[in-house]
Amino acid sequence: MLEIRDLSHRFRNGTEETVVLEEINLSVHKQEVVALLGSSGSGKSTLLNLMAGLMKPTAGSILIAGQPIEKMSENQLAEFRRKNIGFIFQSYELIPHLTVLGNVELPLVFQGMKVKARKEMAEAILTQVGLAEKMHLYPSQLSGGQQQRVSIARSLVTSPSIVFADEPTGNLDTKTEGEILDLLLGLNTRLGITFLIVTHEMEVAQRTQRTIYLRDGRLEDLGSAHGRGDNG
Ligand SMILES: Nc1ncnc2c1ncn2[C@@H]1O[C@H](COP(=O)(O)OP(=O)(O)OP(=O)(O)O)[C@@H](O)[C@H]1O
Ligand SMILES: [Mg+2]
Repeated sequence: MLEIRDLSHRFRNGTEETVVLEEINLSVHKQEVVALLGSSGSGKSTLLNLMAGLMKPTAGSILIAGQPIEKMSENQLAEFRRKNIGFIFQSYELIPHLTVLGNVELPLVFQGMKVKARKEMAEAILTQVGLAEKMHLYPSQLSGGQQQRVSIARSLVTSPSIVFADEPTGNLDTKTEGEILDLLLGLNTRLGITFLIVTHEMEVAQRTQRTIYLRDGRLEDLGSAHGRGDNG
């Protein structure tokens, strides 16, 4: 589903260069759920943004469903992302003047889907995340956990094959975090979606099938968290 080969990335600020990622190699299978850990500034968001095609790597290749996304033109990539990739932001990034339904419908508007069909699809996914009753409210009228569920619904409404989540529970209390995680893992089981989740919380990492760790720009694969005492 996802294959990364010899990926490196550096940021250039004037004459200064910061190497953030070096020679990253990674394979993620269809339907796998992978937690990505690492200290603050270790490059987790950078890696996630590269994998989701939100920016281009300095070197190396990123294949999603067999397609090298770093070789695509901007238009090809935009089209590919609309069809295949979902992204969940820590800060939800909902549009305040659109209702819950409007926010979830939006990716389908960009796909050119007709009003009736897209309403039906958005309603169906909102029901799946338990928000059918809040459909006509605005984001500001929802709790943090509910807003995150809207953003999850929005990321899933286009039936992506892979979803990238950057600290999806970072702003939530432990109980809500557990509920959001239940939701993501349930969607993985029911819909077979592949998830790559950046997280600081060990509780999240312990419940995923596999944990990978970024340290000094390099990736360490810790395999399955189950049956391991710790990750030291
Ligand atoms: N646009 C940019 N220009 C220059 N440097 C950047 C840019 N974006 C990120 N960096 C640097 O790259 C490094 C990794 O940043 P990144 O946001 O990927 O870390 P992170 O692991 O997601 O951290 P956190 O856990 O705090 O979110 C940091 O040192 C950061 O300063
Ligand atoms: Mg980050």
